[in-house]
Amino acid sequence: MKTPTDLQRRKLLKYAAIGIAGAATYPSWAQTGGFVRVNAPSADFLPDVELELTMNTADVAVLQGKKTRVWKVTGKVIKGSANVLDNNEGTYLAPTLRFKKGQKVRIILNNNLPAQSILHWHGLHVPANMDGNPMYAIDHGQTYIYEFEILNRAGTYFYHAHTHGATARQVYSGLAGLLIVSDEQEQALNLPSGAFDVQLAIQDRSFDDQNQLSYSAHMMQRMQGFLGEQILVNGRPDFVLPVATRAYRLRLLNASNSRIYKLAWDDGTPLTVIGVDGGLLEKPEQHAYVMLAPGERLEVWMDFSDRAVGSELNLRSLSFAAGSHGGMGMMGGRGRMGMMGGGMMSVSTLPSGSDYPILKVRVDKKEQGSDTLPKVLTPITALSSKNAANAANPRTITLSMRHMSALLNGRSYKMNDIQPDEIIPVNSLQLIEFDNGFSGGGMHGMMDMPHPMHLHGEQFQIVKREVNTPAGEQYASVSDGFISNGWKDTVLVMPGEKVTILKPFNDFKGLFMYHCHNLEHEDMGMMRDYLIN
Ligand code: C2O
Ligand code: CU
Ligand code: CU
Repeated sequence: MKTPTDLQRRKLLKYAAIGIAGAATYPSWAQTGGFVRVNAPSADFLPDVELELTMNTADVAVLQGKKTRVWKVTGKVIKGSANVLDNNEGTYLAPTLRFKKGQKVRIILNNNLPAQSILHWHGLHVPANMDGNPMYAIDHGQTYIYEFEILNRAGTYFYHAHTHGATARQVYSGLAGLLIVSDEQEQALNLPSGAFDVQLAIQDRSFDDQNQLSYSAHMMQRMQGFLGEQILVNGRPDFVLPVATRAYRLRLLNASNSRIYKLAWDDGTPLTVIGVDGGLLEKPEQHAYVMLAPGERLEVWMDFSDRAVGSELNLRSLSFAAGSHGGMGMMGGRGRMGMMGGGMMSVSTLPSGSDYPILKVRVDKKEQGSDTLPKVLTPITALSSKNAANAANPRTITLSMRHMSALLNGRSYKMNDIQPDEIIPVNSLQLIEFDNGFSGGGMHGMMDMPHPMHLHGEQFQIVKREVNTPAGEQYASVSDGFISNGWKDTVLVMPGEKVTILKPFNDFKGLFMYHCHNLEHEDMGMMRDYLIN
């Protein structure tokens, strides 16, 4: 329901948008070309960086031959240096945005799509009305203005559509990109930069014989989550990364709808992890493989200096037991869904938990790099359960799937439906546990699935992971790939597992979402809001 003031405000905004008022105060108003603003820039917010992003349909060359119709975000810098934004032209990937901690940012988002949409800044600590909650979705022809300060530490963040019931389809169509934050602490480490600081957004897509994206949302697919037949990196199939014989900083983002990766170098070189969702770790960690669930990011240090020019190396996803995702449970253990022979039950020809290549690295030139991996990265203050407002009484979020729904504490998403246990006092530290059948003591349902759980707002720390005995064997195929240190905003919770986290809810009141980042699950209702007040 619109209040009279709301209507007045909208009218005022309409005039403003066509240039009758405000042009002198806000130079950017002139740039909005026909879009109607649903909110106004604030006069006392002085941005260091101002961007205009427009969501539109576009045809891009993804495969050989016919172009693919996608939903593309294209941006321009209104204020700030040109390298704040890289449009990733020729791909469906949204622009890569680069901000510095402490910057005040204004983003003018225009919707020129044939649908409602809104963008969310995944991992950023911003006010509730700047966070891209689905309630702020704008129609075709409308503009939403975001204004916030970059409070996060340096790290690899993510932004994407967050439209009610349509997040999966919209992200799949292209509405997702990287948002990189730097700060002085990070700069002082002199990590590989420029061409040696590489972003790698991993996604899976299926195409029809006309090279068009195919997305089927039948029930089976929604319960499992969409699994594409082809891996794309930065919007490109068969991705090859040419490198020189020196060290690189690789920023990996899983921007897939539901696919979980178990990443490893194919020559057995361990992965050296230097950062996770919320930025650098305190010190590098080596893992034979790393798990990367939808919404998660990882920063990896890789030194190619002792490799021969002309040599190649592959990053693969290794096989693992993926719960129902891999075909167990639901089919009574009769094998993977994708192996059913293309019938109605077939979810993907590239089943979750199978073994397949992600990208190829080709060493193509000699270079004298002198970078050495720092032994210490950035200090992290460990949160303590003792300081939690609910130390003796953790908030439990029970994850479940049954019949046609995916639920949190037995509830499904509804806009503005805050229950008493979803109210959190502002400026408090909260102990939260995600229970994915752990307390069931091994009484598993038909759908035992991993759920990458994500909370909006501030980053959290993982306190502990516990798993029950029946899940142990499956769990052993993934558990060495979890990084439990550092700041996180998304954590993979395996079947039979309970993950306990500590999360601060500082500074901002209002609605902040928590949900499964398997985007089909999210759209099926595996999402709720917390009210911080
Ligand atoms: Cu990346 Cu609520 O989302
Ligand atoms: Cu988010
Ligand atoms: Cu889920």
